[in-house]
Amino acid sequence: MLGSVLLGIATLLGLIYGFLVSNFGHWRRRGVLEPRALPLFGSFPSVIWPRQHFTIDMQDIYMRYRETNSYVGCFLLRAPKLLILEPRLVSEIFVSGFRHFEDNDASHMVDTSKDRLIARNPFVLQGDDWRRERAIFSTLLTNGRIRTLHSIMKRVCGDLCDFLAKDTTGGGPHDGTDLGLRFTGETLFDCVLGIQARSFSKDPLPLIRQNQEMSSENIGLTIAGAVSGLFPNLPRRFRPKVFPRSYDRFMGGVIGEALRLRRSSPQDRNDFINHLLELQKEHNLSEEDMISHAMTFMFDGLDTTSTSIAHCLLLVSYQVGMGLGMYL
Ligand code: HEM
Repeated sequence: MLGSVLLGIATLLGLIYGFLVSNFGHWRRRGVLEPRALPLFGSFPSVIWPRQHFTIDMQDIYMRYRETNSYVGCFLLRAPKLLILEPRLVSEIFVSGFRHFEDNDASHMVDTSKDRLIARNPFVLQGDDWRRERAIFSTLLTNGRIRTLHSIMKRVCGDLCDFLAKDTTGGGPHDGTDLGLRFTGETLFDCVLGIQARSFSKDPLPLIRQNQEMSSENIGLTIAGAVSGLFPNLPRRFRPKVFPRSYDRFMGGVIGEALRLRRSSPQDRNDFINHLLELQKEHNLSEEDMISHAMTFMFDGLDTTSTSIAHCLLLVSYQVGMGLGMYL
């Protein structure tokens, strides 16, 4: 009896191990250098065992192979990923050849029938859907429109400087992540929705709280990442919902209200919400489509831009010495 149980356990463990390593060799067979990967952990162990941010694992591989290879074959858990090391290739992929790269990781992780808030976001779409929504979204991002929003950005810069001058930290170091989020949140709200969100007030902002729930504290996102890494070919309909429902309600509510406000009191402003209202007539967009397009700015723009700003602030604080204390 005991022997059968042990044999059963050994067989099960063997099957799990076989499953976890079944993709290893994927790149070697294609003539691509494949640095050693670990069963379950893949090439970036910190995804599962967070002793450091997993991008530092990527950086380690980059530093080791950047002089000798243009790219190396890696595994995100067990999903094969090509890590591009040569800047020229990175530029080619993101600029001239981008139309061939619509099928990104996010498009596998998200089921747009469950996450309606990003159903129109090119970031998570594939094929014809990607081409169609990209064509609509890019008309919102003309140079002329961005230029006219310069005055809003200047206003927000002024608010940021006033906030820093008030020295809310009592002489201690500033939280660069918080400053980046406040600056970007305020700019996005005003540029996209025409709302001044008073992001530099003392109390924590709902937007910042919601953003934390959406990114760093989002269990759904972690599960979606794990499912995507372990079962890369699983059809979309089996993917879990990624956005917390509270986030859906908050962002959907704010954007819906901004649209209602602008319709009831039109403003002669060259901002995104006015253009979105024009697009609604042109493309016969539903209210849900409109919210999703506005959401593309909020979702794709907030964390990316605020994190870049936070890191710039940190570097500037190093350059000017201890005069401007900063941490992330
Ligand atoms: C420093 C700030 C930003 C960084 C580092 C960044 C980075 C990226 C990257 C790497 C991609 C390509 C992802 C992929 O398909 O594999 C991407 C796509 C995208 N980003 Fe950003 N982004 C930033 C700001 C923004 C802002 C402000 C917006 C909104 C206006 C935005 C909207 C988008 C959209 C819509 C896509 C999908 C494009 C497509 O698939 O056609 N991003 N971004």
